[in-house]
Amino acid sequence: MKMSGRTVLITGGSSGIGLELARQLLARGNTVIVTGRDQARLDSARQRLPQVHTIQSDARDPASIQALFLSVSSQFPALDTLVNNAGVMRNIKLYAARSLEDLTDEIEVNLNAPMRMVQQFLPFLLKRPNSVIINISSGLAFVPFPAAPIYSASKAALHAYSQCLRAQLRDSTVSVIEIAPPGTETPLLRAEFANEMKNEKGMDPALMVRQCIRQIEAGQLEVCPGLSKVLKVASRVAPGLIFKQMIRLSGLKPVASQGQ
Ligand SMILES: NC(=O)c1ccc[n+]([C@@H]2O[C@H](COP(=O)([O-])OP(=O)(O)OC[C@H]3O[C@@H](n4cnc5c(N)ncnc54)[C@H](OP(=O)(O)O)[C@@H]3O)[C@@H](O)[C@H]2O)c1
Repeated sequence: MKMSGRTVLITGGSSGIGLELARQLLARGNTVIVTGRDQARLDSARQRLPQVHTIQSDARDPASIQALFLSVSSQFPALDTLVNNAGVMRNIKLYAARSLEDLTDEIEVNLNAPMRMVQQFLPFLLKRPNSVIINISSGLAFVPFPAAPIYSASKAALHAYSQCLRAQLRDSTVSVIEIAPPGTETPLLRAEFANEMKNEKGMDPALMVRQCIRQIEAGQLEVCPGLSKVLKVASRVAPGLIFKQMIRLSGLKPVASQGQ
């Protein structure tokens, strides 16, 4: 799969992995459109990458996805690559008070949004001769991280969905690729996990994205750079052991039950 001369839409491309992907894909002669909710962050992405096109859009909102489709399909009729990258990751104590609406935000952004994006864009992509959908999951799709329970659930589900999508599109012109990044040095990794990750160093985003592009060009459909490959293999050969490591990394404290 050649990653040049394409027209690429990246959700959540104003920061971190999405922004680095935009940078490397522009350098390879692709047309790149990125989305995000915050216009100021999109403007700053534009300052760093003057060739990038930006569209403000909230991946959680179905109406925003429909508007995005209308705008991209009319302005960029050569669109052939959709990257579902926008994501959020929160440190959630399942025993602490939290509103029912707020609890499942990761499911909305990390799972429902990619599924809705595919539903909205697939008929268009199926008309293109050589298109590709890239879903960004996580190494935590293979082994859950107890400090991020809703996130882990969203990524495991996105992994399952990507496998099903690939099977259904097997004989079509649309390829389905899943990238499962390891811990990568972006704002997402540090924001709510400063404590848990204080002795850990995430992968360099530029190196991570370079490896992904290389593996995609080599025909890999499930891309697991760096430690993500270790998580995937360990989840099969020693699932109990690797999960214990994730529990330890989560630094879970004992929870006092009612009445104690
Ligand atoms: N960093 C890691 O260690 C790591 C590891 C495995 C997987 N991943 C995955 O990689 C992807 C990118 O993460 P990152 O580390 O690059 O995070 P990041 O630096 O926090 O960037 C997240 C991007 O998503 C956008 N975004 C968030 N919510 C959105 C929404 N509702 N609609 C549209 N855009 C939205 C953000 O912009 P706005 O806030 O302005 O909307 C931002 O551009 C995520 O799917 C994440 O789960 C990351």
